[in-house]
Amino acid sequence: MYLKFYGLREAPFAPTPDPKFLFQSTRHREALAQLVYGVRERKGFIVLTGEIGTGKTTLLRTLLERLDGQTPVAYVHNSALEIEGLLEYILHDFGVKSTARSQAQRLVELNEFLIEQHRQGRSPVLVIDEAQNLAIPTLEAVRLLSNFETTHEKLMQILLVGQPELRDKLNAPELRQLKQRVGLRCHIAPLSPEEARLYIRHRLRVAGAADAGLFTDGAIQTIAEYSQGTPRVINIVCDHCLLTGYADSTRRIDADIAGEAIEYLEDGERREWKRSRHVRLVPSRTAVWAARSGVAVLVVLVALMLVFAANALGWLGGVIR
Ligand SMILES: Nc1ncnc2c1ncn2[C@@H]1O[C@H](COP(=O)(O)OP(=O)(O)OP(=O)(O)O)[C@@H](O)[C@H]1O
Ligand SMILES: [Mg+2]
Repeated sequence: MYLKFYGLREAPFAPTPDPKFLFQSTRHREALAQLVYGVRERKGFIVLTGEIGTGKTTLLRTLLERLDGQTPVAYVHNSALEIEGLLEYILHDFGVKSTARSQAQRLVELNEFLIEQHRQGRSPVLVIDEAQNLAIPTLEAVRLLSNFETTHEKLMQILLVGQPELRDKLNAPELRQLKQRVGLRCHIAPLSPEEARLYIRHRLRVAGAADAGLFTDGAIQTIAEYSQGTPRVINIVCDHCLLTGYADSTRRIDADIAGEAIEYLEDGERREWKRSRHVRLVPSRTAVWAARSGVAVLVVLVALMLVFAANALGWLGGVIR
């Protein structure tokens, strides 16, 4: 809606984990390098953790884009699955036409697929996103999948990705064996205030913004503080800022607009009403300012007229001549 108004090619703060928009903070850069290294060097089990909305899925998608186009990938993001469903899903995602009727047969099929890939020099990657929600028995079963190996290396790389609860889960006594097998761990943190500033500018640039200062420093500071450096929250606030700015016909997003957008997010009704009509139902700041000035001038004029009238009637004793 606001793209044309702000001269943008596409939405800069969409909620999707699009690798094109990846901003590499120090932590993100390090984690990505570790993930690439872990998969290329066939480290077996790799664990990536990070707080909600800090960019784990975005990082994963970037990693998958960086793999050669030949590596088979199974990407599981339905953590409600139990092991039977999980296995079926994995086979399907690897492109195996399964005819298995039992769990054992599925495991045989997976083994055959992995050996065939190994012969062709490939090491398939299994990604389990949102793994913090997997039940402990399912996680333990996933460990068994890492037993597919030759004497030299793992036949499949397994990436477990999730929120910090995943780390806690891996510390459970029942998962000691899985924990021991983790070849590499990485963690991503929220952005620092300076990184949040660079992040906002980066996303605007990728979306084609000609004006690098579309968000003022004050606005960025307000957003960085409110979001605590969580990219998903930054995106939501920035998107609302652009909507609010557009509704107010304001070319530059300042701290006031950022504050308004945050207010809307905390208690959505006022702005929702305004936005849903797509017309200016609430006067812009300029209009409010002009109206206030007009009323002030009117009050002064009326007061002057009263003084002159009173004077003319002699009530003021002819003070004004
Ligand atoms: N480093 C980053 N560069 C660009 N965009 C990012 C980055 N990190 C997060 N985002 C953006 O923030 C939003 C949330 O990112 P993402 O879904 O990757 O987070 P997550 O850690 O997987 O969240 P969850 O814990 O809910 O699974 C997305 O819109 C994504 O584009
Ligand atoms: Mg995610």
